[in-house]
Amino acid sequence: MQRLVLKRREFTLLQAFIYQHIGISLGDHKIYLVQARLAKRVKQLGLETFGEYYDYLVADTKGMELEYLSSLISTNVTSFFREQKQWEFLKTHLPSILERSNGRLRIWSAACSSGEEPYSLAMFLAEHLPNHYSQYDIKILATDVSSKVLKIAMSGVYSQKACLSLKEAYLRKYFTPVLMDGEAHYRISDELKKQIVFREFNLVTGEYGLFAHKAFDIIFCRNVMIYFDKPTQNTLVDRFHTILNKEGYLFIGSSEALTDMKKEFKSKSASIYQKV
Ligand SMILES: C[S@@+](CC[C@H](N)C(=O)[O-])C[C@H]1O[C@@H](n2cnc3c(N)ncnc32)[C@H](O)[C@@H]1O
Repeated sequence: MQRLVLKRREFTLLQAFIYQHIGISLGDHKIYLVQARLAKRVKQLGLETFGEYYDYLVADTKGMELEYLSSLISTNVTSFFREQKQWEFLKTHLPSILERSNGRLRIWSAACSSGEEPYSLAMFLAEHLPNHYSQYDIKILATDVSSKVLKIAMSGVYSQKACLSLKEAYLRKYFTPVLMDGEAHYRISDELKKQIVFREFNLVTGEYGLFAHKAFDIIFCRNVMIYFDKPTQNTLVDRFHTILNKEGYLFIGSSEALTDMKKEFKSKSASIYQKV
């Protein structure tokens, strides 16, 4: 089969489309990465050039291909209890957060990928607030732009490799071993799953009016802003500020930082900010 080559002109069109619809800012040097990630999809659709693929994307008014494109362009790498220090911080501050919120806790895992982050939150709460189902009113919202990863998240089934970062005791307590395609996997307990609402949401083009009546005590937006340019990051952080409760926390990835923010946040620890 003939190798597909992404021409500079086609790359410029795709680059602008991806920025406008996903928010991901791809530098000019990313041409080979885009070629490598999209070539298989272009062939799969029976198209002959990346230009035809661009036309296909523009014609797709339902946004189905856009979702597919997002999952090909961004990385979905994640793991259970990623960024250990943030969990330690949360453990220390959980009592004061609950006191402030009168036991009503709303958490958003914004860019949850295949679900390891929101399920870590659910396990964390189950561990540190043993009677929390009856004593507190806790809800976790988990969103991502990619329906592909959300499907995995909603299934709550993980390979042995994905569970390597989990303590043995957590595996026993919160998962059931299952066989999938003849291989050992683990399924998260229904009790934990029930606490999480999974939804598709694009952080850049999404309708934040949906959150008008909601206020979050904690937002996890980790390892996604790194793909956005500064103006997009700033707009996003302003939006988080608006929908966070006073003194609410924003957790970001360890390789990310909040700079030039218009709205006020206090830096509490590496990659952890609190609304002033
Ligand atoms: C590297 S993963 C991070 C997962 C998790 N937050 C963590 O830190 O482990 C990045 C996720 O961001 C999602 N993503 C990329 N662009 C997005 C956008 N515009 N809106 C929402 N999610 C987006 C991707 O689909 C991917 O699942």
